[in-house]
Amino acid sequence: MESRNPIVVTVGHKAKPEHFALAHEMAKKLGAPFAERGNTSLDALRAQYGVSCVMVVKEKLVVDTPDGELYFHPGMAHLRLKNLRHGESDHLLKALGVTEGARVLDCTLGMGADAIVESFCVGKSGEVVALEKNPVVALLIANGLQTDEGEHPTTVAAMRRVHVICADYEDFLREQADDSFDAVYFDPMFRHPFMESTGIHPLRFLADPRPVSAEAIREAKRVARRRVVLKESSKSLEFERLGFTEFEGGKYSNVRYGVMNHLK
Ligand SMILES: C[S@@+](CC[C@H](N)C(=O)[O-])C[C@H]1O[C@@H](n2cnc3c(N)ncnc32)[C@H](O)[C@@H]1O
Repeated sequence: MESRNPIVVTVGHKAKPEHFALAHEMAKKLGAPFAERGNTSLDALRAQYGVSCVMVVKEKLVVDTPDGELYFHPGMAHLRLKNLRHGESDHLLKALGVTEGARVLDCTLGMGADAIVESFCVGKSGEVVALEKNPVVALLIANGLQTDEGEHPTTVAAMRRVHVICADYEDFLREQADDSFDAVYFDPMFRHPFMESTGIHPLRFLADPRPVSAEAIREAKRVARRRVVLKESSKSLEFERLGFTEFEGGKYSNVRYGVMNHLK
């Protein structure tokens, strides 16, 4: 994998043998150098290798960016799954209109929270394929989905079933057959980010910031049997630009889901 953000991989100060093994594996997958750590600080490694980010393998896999640490955390998905287990609904699932057994293409994995919720909903008989353009994010979140202990067995099962692919959704969509997924979902980096959501800063540093193209929506409509969904901030002009006229989401929420329904 070619990395858009130059990165070096290392281990924590008190590394165990398995940390070294994983660090070498990650370095190989990213085509990045592995750096011996010793007592070296992360900033010293950054300077030595001329990179902005350092992946550190310790008990948890962490990517240290200039905007803070990025690591997998099922936190938000956990709360949403808890609500679903208590019979409450979820705006994204309503927008996607999927149930058990469905195939969902999540074009924008990011931290993986939405993909976990989709995976919980479609269950073992369904499938969630989640795409992520940035190789560091894809690798970090795929690793978290496969190894995090979670807080509930059904959350863990849903995490393990998400199939992560490092790819650009435009390229991937072009290669898919007509009607091969029930729903296709886009959650791009918002055009006008909420500055208060500081938790997303490290992701913002690595993420692909480009808007969704009209061509991607055209391809998504061909690939989706039933629905194409776009998440954006409530007042975003992106919905109009891309042709979304139906919406799902909380009345007072600052995010909305644009829905293209009855595609066929
Ligand atoms: C706002 S985040 C998605 C958050 C995600 N829904 C979640 O629950 O954590 C957007 C992600 O999509 C990725 N992305 C943007 N453009 C992409 C593209 N063309 N192909 C694949 N991934 C893309 C970004 O790198 C970023 O990680």
